[in-house]
Amino acid sequence: MADRRPKVWVSQPLFDDVVAQLGQHFDLDMTDQVTRYTPAQLAERLAGVDGALITLNERIGAAEIASAPQLRAIANVGVGYNNLDVEALSAAGILASNTPDVLTETTADLGFALLMATARRVTEAERWLRDGQWGQWSFQTMLGADIHGSTLGILGMGRIGQGIARRGALGFGMRVLYHNRSRLPEATEAEVGAQYVDLDTLLAQADHLVLVLPYNASSHHIIDAAALAKMKPGATLVNIARGGIVDELALADALANGRLAAAGLDVFEGEPTVRPELLALRNIVLTPHIGSASQATRRAMVQLAVDNLTAALGQGPDAGHPPSAINAAAVAAVKTGGATVGGKKIDDAKR
Ligand code: 8YV
Repeated sequence: MADRRPKVWVSQPLFDDVVAQLGQHFDLDMTDQVTRYTPAQLAERLAGVDGALITLNERIGAAEIASAPQLRAIANVGVGYNNLDVEALSAAGILASNTPDVLTETTADLGFALLMATARRVTEAERWLRDGQWGQWSFQTMLGADIHGSTLGILGMGRIGQGIARRGALGFGMRVLYHNRSRLPEATEAEVGAQYVDLDTLLAQADHLVLVLPYNASSHHIIDAAALAKMKPGATLVNIARGGIVDELALADALANGRLAAAGLDVFEGEPTVRPELLALRNIVLTPHIGSASQATRRAMVQLAVDNLTAALGQGPDAGHPPSAINAAAVAAVKTGGATVGGKKIDDAKR
């Protein structure tokens, strides 16, 4: 077991200068091609590496890691990690990590940008202008809904939800309601200016509803036809979380029949494919999953993922303790359940 340099695979072109830091400790397999991998290609890439730096487009579960006995760490460049089967990774002793915090404010900015563009019909108005229709202007052209003074509903009140609440309450004088699995401490509610309500109240009272909750089995299609029917007539809906949270066909119906005024979507169930039913609508703002896409934030995400991977593979200042591990406890339990070393947690680097 001499000193073989561990191998790391980087799935997509990210920021080369940041990723290059991994070269201090590891042999790097990088790419300059944006690639959509099949499950078989993923399995092939993971076989023979010790760690991988990946994005949300790479879905990794039991099948993809089955022929990767060396694999010890996966660093996801993204805060959401519904692309990872964490249970399967934990069972295989693979330490997974994500990139929270560094993208909170940037993603909240995009949530607010979509909210405003949706309520004030910004992209629809631009299309109308570009189509040469300004000559048909009337006093009632492109009337939208106010943001200031309206009621903002937020479903999912993690860090990004709180950022959106602050913007609404402090910047725009909105009444902010939220629903979340667990209620925030009162001091946090006061600080972000938001009031906890049950889901039905949220749906019924929000003039603008923003979805910021994690995607999992219990949030799948939580906004379905029944939920849409409970929303305030003429409300707007914004989704910056994951496409699968919304039943897109039911949403397309609600937008086509005017039940909802408009929607803004940054995420889609079949990314990168967008349903024709959505594309055909006039009253919808569509962006290609750009929530965290500012220069500074995307760099910070890659830096955090690099730090996570380095630490998970037992190198650098945080060796053995990635700053944002997802499954550290589960992996430690799996390891100590195996060959226990004096009851001590086994350092990843020594596995
Ligand atoms: C993605 C996101 O990371 O962090 C998340 O969960 O959805 C985004 O920030 C980004 O689109 C790169 O895959």
